[in-house]
Amino acid sequence: MDVESLEQSIQQDISKANSVEALEEARIRYLGRKGRITALLRNIKDVPPTERPQIGAVANRLKQLAEGLLEQKTTALRATQTASRFYTPPRDATLPAHEGARGHRHILSQTVSELKEIFFGMGYSLAPGPDVELEYYNFQALNFPDEHPSRDLQDTFYVTDDILLRTHTSPVQIRFMENNKPPLKIIAAGRVYRNETIDQSHAAEFHQIEGLYVDNNVSLADLKKDVEVFIQQLFGAKTKVRFRPHFFPFTEPSAEVDMTCFACNGAGCSVCGQVGWIEIMGAGMVHPNVFRAVGYDPEVYSGFAFGLGVDRVAMIKYGIDDIRLFLSNDFRFLEQF
Ligand code: DAH
Repeated sequence: MDVESLEQSIQQDISKANSVEALEEARIRYLGRKGRITALLRNIKDVPPTERPQIGAVANRLKQLAEGLLEQKTTALRATQTASRFYTPPRDATLPAHEGARGHRHILSQTVSELKEIFFGMGYSLAPGPDVELEYYNFQALNFPDEHPSRDLQDTFYVTDDILLRTHTSPVQIRFMENNKPPLKIIAAGRVYRNETIDQSHAAEFHQIEGLYVDNNVSLADLKKDVEVFIQQLFGAKTKVRFRPHFFPFTEPSAEVDMTCFACNGAGCSVCGQVGWIEIMGAGMVHPNVFRAVGYDPEVYSGFAFGLGVDRVAMIKYGIDDIRLFLSNDFRFLEQF
């Protein structure tokens, strides 16, 4: 037997073993039940008695060598394994980035923007006004009689006796006229508040866009033209418009404006409740008392005004059947737009 080559292969095999499994294989190869060193020790009884001490010494030295090397290597392997548990591979900066959930504009904001753009294109500019309003601007200056039912606590959120949450965007008309002289052509947009019983088509908070045009010789024909242009831009050139007589304190004459149903073109369907027409806004010629409240001479100036619900426009346009969805913050709803 070549002791030298056996010793070499022990050293090589153990130093090559780079995993716990490979090391175990090496141990079995030399020290297992059928291992080469084990065989050497076992076969001592077959050699002549004079050679036994020498062979025994060699076999024991090899056994100790193997055991020592195995222990060293095991310790070394354990150390690198522990280190590798704390090791984080370098990040690959070239991998595509993970796309997080991204927000987008609320459907009402989108609708307000769309409506504003149409009015800007028609020569209107935007006028500001507060949500918390004086009763004077919300009612009195707009020619609401003192006993008008909409002043009632049932409809209006009062903050104090003469401060309230505006029930419509019309007070912006008064504020703007107080500070500006005709000609003027403005829209006001924003949230309005009513003490409503909430259901599918009534919310306590909703949104309006108001329009006002004042100059010399503004006529009902001018109103009809602007309303028609606006509605046709929004719902298509084939849309027809009709004015139905109505009452608003701040306009005379006043009208409610209907348009032909965009879904059936006026034939009657489930969207318009089979009537072919959809109510879209209120409008009228500015009442002389409103002009007097802001110091305009009603003999010199005339004007028209209109107001429409943004929520309602969005509901019609996108087939939304419950106004409460707009402020419900339900992602399943919001993500559709
Ligand atoms: N302010 C009315 C409302 O909230 C809407 C309205 C109707 C506004 C006619 C107007 C108008 O400017 O002329 O119901």
